[in-house]
Amino acid sequence: MNTQLNTLEIQNQLKQGYFGEFGGMFVPPVLEPKLNELSDTFEKLKNDNEFIKEFHYYLKQYVGRPSPLFLAKRLSDYVGSRIYLKREDLNHTGAHKINNTIGQILVAKYMGAKEIIAETGAGQHGVATATAAALFGLKCKIFMGKKDAERQQLNAYRIKLLGSEFITTDRGTGTLKDAVDAALEYYIENPDSYYLLGSAVGPHPYPTMVRFFQSVIGTEARKQILEQEGRLPESIFACVGGGSNAIGLFSGFLDDSKVRIHAAEGGGDGLFPGRSASTLVLGKPTVFQGTFSYCMVDKEGNPIDTYSIAAGLDYPGVGPEHSFLKENLRAEYHCVTDSEAIAAFKLLSALEGIIPAIESAHAVALAAKLLKNKNELSIINLSGRGDKDVDRNLI
Ligand SMILES: Cc1ncc(COP(=O)(O)O)c(C=O)c1O
Repeated sequence: MNTQLNTLEIQNQLKQGYFGEFGGMFVPPVLEPKLNELSDTFEKLKNDNEFIKEFHYYLKQYVGRPSPLFLAKRLSDYVGSRIYLKREDLNHTGAHKINNTIGQILVAKYMGAKEIIAETGAGQHGVATATAAALFGLKCKIFMGKKDAERQQLNAYRIKLLGSEFITTDRGTGTLKDAVDAALEYYIENPDSYYLLGSAVGPHPYPTMVRFFQSVIGTEARKQILEQEGRLPESIFACVGGGSNAIGLFSGFLDDSKVRIHAAEGGGDGLFPGRSASTLVLGKPTVFQGTFSYCMVDKEGNPIDTYSIAAGLDYPGVGPEHSFLKENLRAEYHCVTDSEAIAAFKLLSALEGIIPAIESAHAVALAAKLLKNKNELSIINLSGRGDKDVDRNLI
């Protein structure tokens, strides 16, 4: 474990939009001025007390924060450790995504944006963006892959009900990568719209900005575990699609070198290229969708199709900070298969009366495996609730 890695070092890297060698801004020239303007605006706003006050006002009064840190007693007994759940599933709209959309919609409002656009995989980010757009009376377009729209019908319906224009794309595999491509294409043609990116991925400043808005998870969790247990956990767990809920939790504990950090990727059928979305286990560093980070690629270095039962994890790329944390050995990235996630989906529902999103169930599965009879104090980030997954016949 590299104990040299501390917050100051990461902040210095953040300034330039790089995390070690990962990150950057690899975009067509038409987008560069827009992203530079966004970066300058964000740098200014994050140090502006009024802006931060407004952000926290909405987190408290609209989102319902702080989210509880709940001791899952029956799960703990079953596993043989002491396990807390950070209840992001209890946020308004049912997932962590709303933390970032509230932050970014305030940035967009400050920049005078007239139209919001966003991509979505599991639909949670689409719902959260459509919600924030409704709240502030802004026009909004949500792009979603066709396959994802079919497997996450509840969220597709919610996006339309919230008054956003809902655009499906049947390019590629009809999943998150294709939705990002469709949104980017629209953004290139309409650079005056505000692209509200949903994960800690893409070109600078998104990985930095999304991390900032999601870091409320880690800040709260650290304070709550100290209040409830009087000590830090031995380990923390989160699932990783693009990596926003994970970096949100991890950011609160990066300086605590004794806290082990574990991330669960969507492993699909296992470690087989084309049948998995375990990017940091199977992928290679490459430039993909505006950033230099790990990506699942073929022999020629082109992104390949991925597969995971969880639409929110079914993505060939990953946020650049996760690539940095992997290479520095500060966090460990694991492949969690569909069947392990389904078992955890049922286990948490039956033991705690909490139906997790199938994405979050990957983190529960990994924790249940690694913590077996370890008697460790631990936190799992429960990134979202599972209503969207109950009609998928997972039982
Ligand atoms: C509930 C939930 N958890 C996790 C994710 C994965 O995204 P991220 O890695 O950005 O947290 C998603 C994505 O849609 C989601 O809906």
